[in-house]
Amino acid sequence: MFKQYVELLYKKSERGTDELRQCIAGYGPDYWTWADWFAKGLGKYLEAHQLTPEDGIDLYLKEANDILDRTIDFRRTGRYRDTDPREVLRTHFSQTDKMRQDMVSLALSQFLWPHHQKLFAFFLECLGSRADGLKTYVEIGPGHGLYLAAALRSLPGLEEVWGVDISPFSIEMTRQMLQGLNSPTSARVRLECRDANTLASETTFDFVTVGEVISTSETPGVFLKQLVGLLAPGGRMFLSDCANCPDSSIVHIFHTVEEIRVLLRSCGLEIERECVAPSMGGVSEADHARHRLSVSYAALLRRVAP
Ligand SMILES: C[S@@+](CC[C@H](N)C(=O)[O-])C[C@H]1O[C@@H](n2cnc3c(N)ncnc32)[C@H](O)[C@@H]1O
Repeated sequence: MFKQYVELLYKKSERGTDELRQCIAGYGPDYWTWADWFAKGLGKYLEAHQLTPEDGIDLYLKEANDILDRTIDFRRTGRYRDTDPREVLRTHFSQTDKMRQDMVSLALSQFLWPHHQKLFAFFLECLGSRADGLKTYVEIGPGHGLYLAAALRSLPGLEEVWGVDISPFSIEMTRQMLQGLNSPTSARVRLECRDANTLASETTFDFVTVGEVISTSETPGVFLKQLVGLLAPGGRMFLSDCANCPDSSIVHIFHTVEEIRVLLRSCGLEIERECVAPSMGGVSEADHARHRLSVSYAALLRRVAP
């Protein structure tokens, strides 16, 4: 099922397809199980919006061109184009067409970009390592809904699940993807359109997922400290973000993965395990920093004992 997206991509673009062909040839059955499962949900989502898989790949290619423009700009100037979160909320998170292009392509990239696939596989590993006794779960910024749907599929013991996203589009796409993927309904799932900067921490959760969200804030440390308050005693946080990542809606520049680690520690978090995924195969992490190339990063975190 996912094969059709890959074939459409090969047909429509030559950029980056050699690396993809090589990686895809090396992926095992787990990759295909998850990719086919995801493709079924995405297909239903697209169909409900009178779109075909080919339209999905067109959205992906449009976003890839936008990212390439931004990357060239960033490597030249050292600055991201988006600098003001209020402006991002108005021109991006609140705009249906922009968000559809962004979220459909970001969801597809989880299976098309080797570094995103590495992070998604790491996320599944982190969930697996915490599966016992996990009852309450929250995701901040579920966006396309893939990670939330994967958590529901991997953790059948969940009783209470909450998804919070600032974008009305993302909340609706997450709801439809959960439906399309027949996510188990035994857990109580609540989806809420809200700025997570304003979350009070009176409720706490066994697992908190924050995927590519904190760098949409000018002050990611202040934002993250707020989210740390959502962790129940003994709870874990999965956090991902990216250094040198001029994608639309990202306003804070992490220049290196080490800067992200330092921020995590300054927010009272301890890194239990981590995954570093440079965007360019065969190029060292140091050269990624030197040449302003993007590096994805994820970690499984726990609160440092007071
Ligand atoms: C780049 S997408 C990430 C989607 C998914 N978590 C992933 O890792 O692929 C960021 C998502 O976070 C949401 N978001 C950004 N700032 C937020 C905030 N302050 N509160 C809640 N959601 C936010 C955006 O609307 C978007 O859906």
